[in-house]
Amino acid sequence: MNLGVKIGKLQLKYPIVTASGTFGFGEELSSLVDFSSLGALVTKTITLKSRRGNPPPRIREVECGVLNSIGLDNPGVEGFLKNKLPKIKKLGVPFIVSVGGYSPSEYVEVVKVLDRVKGIKAIEINLSCPNLRQKKMFSQSARLTFKITDSLRRITKKTLIVKLTGEVEDIRKIAKSAEYGGADALSLVNTFFAMGVDVDTKKPFLGRVYGGYSGKGIKPLSLYRVWECAKVVKIPIIGGGGIDNYRDAIEFFLVGAKVISLGTINLVNPNAAKSILNGIIKYMQKNKIKDINELVGGLVV
Ligand SMILES: Cc1cc2nc3c(=O)[nH]c(=O)nc-3n(C[C@H](O)[C@H](O)[C@H](O)COP(=O)(O)O)c2cc1C
Repeated sequence: MNLGVKIGKLQLKYPIVTASGTFGFGEELSSLVDFSSLGALVTKTITLKSRRGNPPPRIREVECGVLNSIGLDNPGVEGFLKNKLPKIKKLGVPFIVSVGGYSPSEYVEVVKVLDRVKGIKAIEINLSCPNLRQKKMFSQSARLTFKITDSLRRITKKTLIVKLTGEVEDIRKIAKSAEYGGADALSLVNTFFAMGVDVDTKKPFLGRVYGGYSGKGIKPLSLYRVWECAKVVKIPIIGGGGIDNYRDAIEFFLVGAKVISLGTINLVNPNAAKSILNGIIKYMQKNKIKDINELVGGLVV
């Protein structure tokens, strides 16, 4: 049975990755997690300079998921290279470095630095953080999605994955802009804008009032967006949003995801990849599927 998939130049043993921001830099979980079921881990998003993120409370469990307004709390690219990268390398699992920025030129500066680092094979460009100061996310504009992807493609041959928001009128246009700009793969979707209120104190749950919603409640939304994009792009899609068991994962493969990503479930069970991988294997055995790639896009309509 083959479970291996290729994303750009990155060969993954299994079609499962962690979603950025829900698994730290991996090393924090090393005493709890068996990394052997993961195809790769995606790091927390890093930016050019270190950042403290948004004021607390920054995370809150709500119905069918979680609200967060972390806001790219991270050590900056130099801090990452000095203090995090050596530890990630020791985990023995492939990794993808997630990069964020406040301007197109910030992405360029960070990717230029990462491009010089030999041990880094793949970069995920987070164009979809809902927790920044600006109201609009870069991946809400087809023009900016193309512009940033194209400028990064010109400075690196490393595998480039572009992470999009689902909060757009027509995600197919944005997906095509990323592909046209030279992305090797897409990652969909990030969290959805959301908020919650404590009726006793009359205060919002999050210190920043609103944030991003993730987990079980967004699964039908993310699934639909992956399906829409898979019909119009040729590059592979890393699909996720609300996956917490193997049947969810199979749904994403069927609508066209080549790899699935696990996010909020890591906050409950950081070893979820293991049981999800076992479930995928059993499903493939039962349905006589020899290669995971046969499952991708196999939706019967
Ligand atoms: C606490 C938390 C922090 C997150 N931080 C990031 C981040 O730094 N970069 C990013 O691209 N996505 C971030 N995300 C979004 C996830 O990577 C993922 O796209 C989203 O949560 C949807 O998947 P899920 O429903 O499986 O969690 C974060 C999500 C959560 C819950």
